[in-house]
Amino acid sequence: MAGPIDPKLVPKRTLASGEKIPCIGMGTFGSDRYPPAEISAAVGGAIRAGYRLFDCAAVYGNEDRIGEVFDDAFNSGVVKREELFINSKVWNDMHGRGNVLLALAKTLRDLRLDYLDSYMVHWPFPNCHTPGCAGDARNPDSVPFSADRFMGAWKQMERIVDMGLARYIGMSNMTIPKLEAVLPLCRIQPAMIEMEMHPGFQQPDLYKYCVDRKILVIGFSPVGSPNRPDRDKADGDIAATEIPELVAIAKAHGLHPAIVCLKWAVQRGQIPIPFSVHEKNYLANLRCVTEDPLTDAEMAAIARADKNCRLIKGQVFLWEGAKGWEDLWD
Ligand SMILES: NC(=O)c1ccc[n+]([C@@H]2O[C@H](COP(=O)([O-])OP(=O)(O)OC[C@H]3O[C@@H](n4cnc5c(N)ncnc54)[C@H](OP(=O)(O)O)[C@@H]3O)[C@@H](O)[C@H]2O)c1
Repeated sequence: MAGPIDPKLVPKRTLASGEKIPCIGMGTFGSDRYPPAEISAAVGGAIRAGYRLFDCAAVYGNEDRIGEVFDDAFNSGVVKREELFINSKVWNDMHGRGNVLLALAKTLRDLRLDYLDSYMVHWPFPNCHTPGCAGDARNPDSVPFSADRFMGAWKQMERIVDMGLARYIGMSNMTIPKLEAVLPLCRIQPAMIEMEMHPGFQQPDLYKYCVDRKILVIGFSPVGSPNRPDRDKADGDIAATEIPELVAIAKAHGLHPAIVCLKWAVQRGQIPIPFSVHEKNYLANLRCVTEDPLTDAEMAAIARADKNCRLIKGQVFLWEGAKGWEDLWD
């Protein structure tokens, strides 16, 4: 198997602050399929492989195990804390007054860190589902988006920056109308916005909206999340890795279609955060951004192949009276 990648060879993206961060990271959501120990072992392997950006979240239920791995890596001198860029996210049940700081304290304790590089609001509503629930599960306490309510959480996020506990703050699962409603109210603008993004769901308008405002885009499910939880699977979903144009490009390069998804993401400009516990895959995912770029014609062919097919629809967050998952996305 090919060896590690020198992190210096991994291209960088520039935050509005001017700081440069890696153009690719590793996701840590096990889709209710991979146990925490397997994921944390992969994080350890990924650090040794040359990954320097990790996307964590309290709701993934594995921050304590990942924290052990970070601690080991720092103590054994494999990497220094300041060489990693570590994201985490506040879960929907912790948006209320005083709760964001409590959630962050738990995340810092679990990850065994003094500060996060970035802390994000995972979803823009306080709506929760029980772990492992079915797709049609509904919580009677769920509510539609409200800019006022969101800003209650965001003001707490801003104070976290003031306290030096997170270097940047960000949002996730936003839309242009929601951003239009909240960005003018933010004392500290989001440095990054995490959103579903793969060749089958390219979100060109939201992507441009963020780029125009110097907000970095982090693309989740960059391979199209083939092992996503069953609650996130629906009739009519299109697998990013089976789009014919993409498969043809993969064949021409002698690559797995997943790798073409990642090359497309990085060359377009978003930061993909692919997940895999398999060394062969996570190594290939990092290596692919350092060699054999796609041609302009291949990039254009993938852009034209967009299916506008959202896979992570979020229907478990719907409120009483909502018609369907589209209501979550304006
Ligand atoms: N902000 C949010 O609301 C949100 C939502 C969803 C996800 N995320 C973040 O985004 C990360 C990635 O998203 P995701 O896990 O949903 O989907 P993903 O990265 O698109 O897909 C992960 C799956 O792709 C397969 N894969 C990865 N690299 C591969 C390769 N080189 N060749 C073949 N197969 C490959 C893996 O299979 P194997 O396991 O077999 O290798 C893995 O199960 C998550 O882990 C999480 O950190 C955030």
